[in-house]
Amino acid sequence: MSVRGKNGGSGMAPGGKTKKSMKALVLSGGKGTRLRPITHTGAKQLVPIANRPILAYVLDNIARAGIRDVGIIISPETGGEIRDTIGDGSGMGLSITYLLQDAPKGLAHAVAVGRDFLGDSPFVMYLGDNLIGCGIENFIETFEGARSDAVILLKPVDNPSSFGVAEVDASGKITGLEEKPKAPKSNLALVGVYVFSSAIHGAISEIKPSERGELEITDAIRRLITSGKPVHSHIVDTWWLDTGKKDDLLAANTVVLDEWFTRRIEGDVDDLSRVTGRVTVEKGATIRNSVLRGPMAIAAGSVIEDSFIGPFTSIGAGTKIKKSIIEHSVILAGAEISHIDRLEDSLIGRGAKVVKCHDRHEALRLMIGDDSVVEV
Ligand code: DAU
Repeated sequence: MSVRGKNGGSGMAPGGKTKKSMKALVLSGGKGTRLRPITHTGAKQLVPIANRPILAYVLDNIARAGIRDVGIIISPETGGEIRDTIGDGSGMGLSITYLLQDAPKGLAHAVAVGRDFLGDSPFVMYLGDNLIGCGIENFIETFEGARSDAVILLKPVDNPSSFGVAEVDASGKITGLEEKPKAPKSNLALVGVYVFSSAIHGAISEIKPSERGELEITDAIRRLITSGKPVHSHIVDTWWLDTGKKDDLLAANTVVLDEWFTRRIEGDVDDLSRVTGRVTVEKGATIRNSVLRGPMAIAAGSVIEDSFIGPFTSIGAGTKIKKSIIEHSVILAGAEISHIDRLEDSLIGRGAKVVKCHDRHEALRLMIGDDSVVEV
């Protein structure tokens, strides 16, 4: 299987211009520790939002900016799965090169792994597990217009200590940077999208691993600043969702369904069913005697019977749902949900079963993976 662009993906910027000199480096290595147990068995960049992997939205954004040459950093553990899902990029108008990072030794280490692929080109570095509600074209224009050596995408947040944090002067130049500071000097978080000139490689060669043992890109950028190189910022004025945790993932699913989805019914929906609002039912899905209320998405091969599926829900491929009510949830591929009176705000993993047994009254009978959460 390989992912196609949202609209067939031509790899052209909206004006039809291909940015020949600019490359992109997408970081999809690392370990998916923050979304356990979902990412015990898969790459966090492939966790689906509205039934498409997060990484596919990242690549959409890169293709829409007119960039064609994309390097994707992968890890030995999840690289194969990423390759199999994304493919060679041709379906999105991209040419993708996979670059293996032997261990998650830091964002700057990942850039060093991409050194030969990048050559001396300027490049967009994009963390493969982040979703932003806007394109990156303006951001690249800031880089080109300001003749900068780095432009960093920032967003004001309530919890800056969880992120890289920047200090910015009145002209938008970055004057200071810290990685996950205990006492942040501003509320401007690094979103995980950066544009760099080739000057970043020299800066990376001069830094040492941090206390947590990683080569930090924030240290390399600080090195650019102290050596007098211009480093600018660009503030994201739409939403940004860091999809590392369950609630972030549900929020991302909600926003994407709400803002980007249209009504498209290609599956088999019987006359007893009612479908209202912006509902996507993929070809090969079967809906029997059920109510679907959008915005929501149901992937191919799913069978929904005698159920109510409410707004802001994504149902993955090959899922079976029987006599259940589900709202504001993400159900991953191959899951089975049967006779559940109301399931909400939930993330159900691949192939998981949530079934009510009628032969038992008060007792629960569970088989739950490591780090799972059950709220009854
Ligand atoms: O989410 C935004 C934050 O992302 C920024 O505010 C921080 O400044 C930045 O360091 C980063 O922090 P995280 O703790 O979220 O980074 P994480 O380890 O989750 O890695 C982000 C992505 O980069 C993820 O897709 C995995 C990939 N990665 C990470 C490391 C450490 C690699 O490909 N190689 C690596 O060595």
